[in-house]
Parts: sequence; C-alpha cells; structure tokens
Amino acid sequence: MRMIDIIEHKRDGKILTNEEINFFITNYVDGKIPDYQVSALLMAILFRGMSDEEIFNLTNDMLHSGDIIDLSKIKGVKVDKHSTGGVGDKTSLVLGPLVASCGAKLAKMSGRGLGHTGGTLDKMESIPGMQINISEDNFISQVNKIGMAIVGQTGHLVPADKKLYALRDVTGTVDSLPLIASSIMSKKLASGSDSILLDVKVGSGAFMKTLEMGEELAKTMVSIGKYFKKDTRAILTDMDEPLGLAVGNNLEVIEAINTLKGNGPKDLTELCIKAGAIMLLQAKICASFEEGEKLLQSKIENGEAFKKFVEFVEAQGGDITYVLNTSKFEKAKYEISIKSNKSGYITKIDALEIGEFAMKLGAGREKIEDKIDYSAGIILSKKIGDFVNSGDELCKIYTNKENYEEIIKEIKNSFIISENKPENRKIIYKVIS
Ligand code: URA
Repeated sequence: MRMIDIIEHKRDGKILTNEEINFFITNYVDGKIPDYQVSALLMAILFRGMSDEEIFNLTNDMLHSGDIIDLSKIKGVKVDKHSTGGVGDKTSLVLGPLVASCGAKLAKMSGRGLGHTGGTLDKMESIPGMQINISEDNFISQVNKIGMAIVGQTGHLVPADKKLYALRDVTGTVDSLPLIASSIMSKKLASGSDSILLDVKVGSGAFMKTLEMGEELAKTMVSIGKYFKKDTRAILTDMDEPLGLAVGNNLEVIEAINTLKGNGPKDLTELCIKAGAIMLLQAKICASFEEGEKLLQSKIENGEAFKKFVEFVEAQGGDITYVLNTSKFEKAKYEISIKSNKSGYITKIDALEIGEFAMKLGAGREKIEDKIDYSAGIILSKKIGDFVNSGDELCKIYTNKENYEEIIKEIKNSFIISENKPENRKIIYKVIS
C-alpha cells in the first residue's frame, strides 16, 4: 500500500477502506509517513468529508494508537462528560461533586486552557496545593472512595491525536467535522468510562458558531459513541455569552462553590442540574430526568454537593480552608469597575471577546508555555436581557498587569445595548441521544 494512493483516493472523493485508514494512522504514528503527505490527506478529508464508516474506522485506529485506561476496578457505572470548550465554563467543577453526591462515579481526565477558553486543570490549580497529576492506582482508589476525581491525562493516550492535532493546527485543517469528532471521541473512549455526556457549545465563544454546525458535530460524536457501545448523549448549549458571571481561574472556582451552595448564576445552575440529570440516567441512579433534577436539587439544598467538593479538594491535596472561606483566595492588585455609557437592554455580550480580554488580563495562555495569573479575569455584572442605565456597572476586571487602559476602553464594545428587549434565552438548545 502507498500513501500517495490513499491521498489520491480521498482527493477524488472515494471512500477509504479500513486497511487504508489503518495504514495511514499506524505508519504516521511510527514516523514512517512524512508530515507533508499527511497534510495533503487531511486537506482532502476537509474538502471531501468522510462516511460514517470511515469516521468509525478512523476513531478506532486513533483510539488503539496508545493506552486505553481500564476503569473496571471502579465499582458502578463510570460516567464522564466533555465540553467542547467555552468562556466561563466551570461546569465540571460543579457537575462532578453534584453527581458524585448522588452516587455516580466520575473518573475524569481534563485539559488545560489555551487561547480564549479556560481549562478545568488550571482552575483546579488555583486552589493552593491541588494536585492534578496522580497515579492511575490513586485515581481509581479515589473514585472508589469518594465518587470522583479530575486529573490531567494519565498514561499514553491517543498519540495519533497528538501528532495529527499539531499538524492540523498549522495546516488549516482543524475545522473538519470528521477530524474533530474522531479526535474528541478517540480521547474520550480511551479514558475508559461507561457513559459519555458531550456538552457541545454553540455561539460566538465556541468552536461551533451555529446551531446547525453544533448539531451535526453532536450527532456524529453520539453515533461514534454508540458504535463503540458506550451510552453517549449530547447537549447543545449556548456560548453566545460567557457561562455564569465569572471568567478567570480562582474567580470561577469561587463561582462554582457558590453554585454548589445554591447561590450560583441561573444559567450555570440550570445547565448543571439538567446535564447532571442526564448523567444520573446514564449512571442508572434515576429512572427519569425529572427524578434526577429533584435529587440534584436536594443535594444542593442539604449541603451534600458542597461537602463532596470539599472531599474532592482534600483528596487531591488542596487546601480546604480556601474552599471553606473563599475570601482567602489571592486577589488581583487592580479591580476596575466598567460602567455603561448608555441606557437600554443588553442584547449581546461577546463571549469570544470577553475570553480574549480575560486572557490578556493574565487569566489565560496565548502560548502553551505562558504562565497563568489565577486571580486575573472578569466578573460580569449583567447578562443578556438585563436592563442598564447609563453609569451602571457592566463588569469588573481583575488584573495584576499595569497596562490595562486599552482593555478598559475596548471591553465596553463587547456589550451591545439596544432599546429593544431581546427574546428570552435558553441555556440548553437541544438534547441528542
Ligand atoms: N478538541 C479536540 O480535542 N479535537 C479537535 O479536533 C477539536 C477540539
């Protein structure tokens, strides 16, 4: 078999055979096919697409390119969730303790933030002492003991994705549905849980800008999960404005804690309860969605959800005194109130721009090696649909950097204010199962 023939087949719109896909993945991971040939194939895939069967075969070969985590020593149904990434997305920090307090087992591997999106691991590390690198044995025993763990990647998972993603990043081939779906699902399947809930974000701050694009990706990923016999479901959720109010690492941890105590923003709380209810169905803990919602709500009200968060932080070495008293968290040197110079209804808060401003204030990384300032970020004072008078606060920015003047001038433009009240928004657009 020759790589040139595989490239030409896809270039001409043919369906690649299982053998061809296997040849390309195996030999690329082994360093036997050069980047320039793989780049050409990726571009052909981007233009020509892939059939369902090609996508399943590609995911399978990527999945088997490295280790697959064995979670069979964890008792019960292991649930996992994955977000395609957004701004202010602290869902895992709320959902994990919530579902674990109901008896579900969450053995989760998370990632770091890059660009305008934050990463759960960085948020966790804003709690002093919190460890994200724990051995596979400790990971498993922690989930058995307290019902949850969130860690960085253990083992050598999906090396094919590491190589392919780095190449896609520099060859304009990230935005291909078959490549995105196989990349995400190969990693989720390698992480070894029994069920997967995919939170596909849609809107200005997300990868998928429209509901149609998001739905197509969600359906493809759900079909991959089902092909591999995992209970896989997806929710399409709003990312036209940041989720909740806080954007930035320790600011988001504090918001997650408030949400677990029942004092969180409405959109975040609703998303966590609804996503959690689906996960409880997947874990077979509840027989109906409504029963799940009620159970989760009761765990917030009786304090067990927050107690689970404290157990989780303690188990991973974090200093729980910060969690018990959030005023201990490091504060940024500068806290600046941004005021509206107009009256009216907020019709848009550009999530992408808010994410980028938060990154510039120190909350995120432009390059992988950049250091994060855990105290930096933005807290919104208003959400879409709220009315503001001229002079009312739109948001507060938090930074240790001296050169924030430009951001102060620009950030107001991320809020669009109009005379007309916008339609009420939904946090979850659709559920796909
Ligand atoms: N996230 C991934 O893990 N892979 C993609 O291709 C895109 C987003």
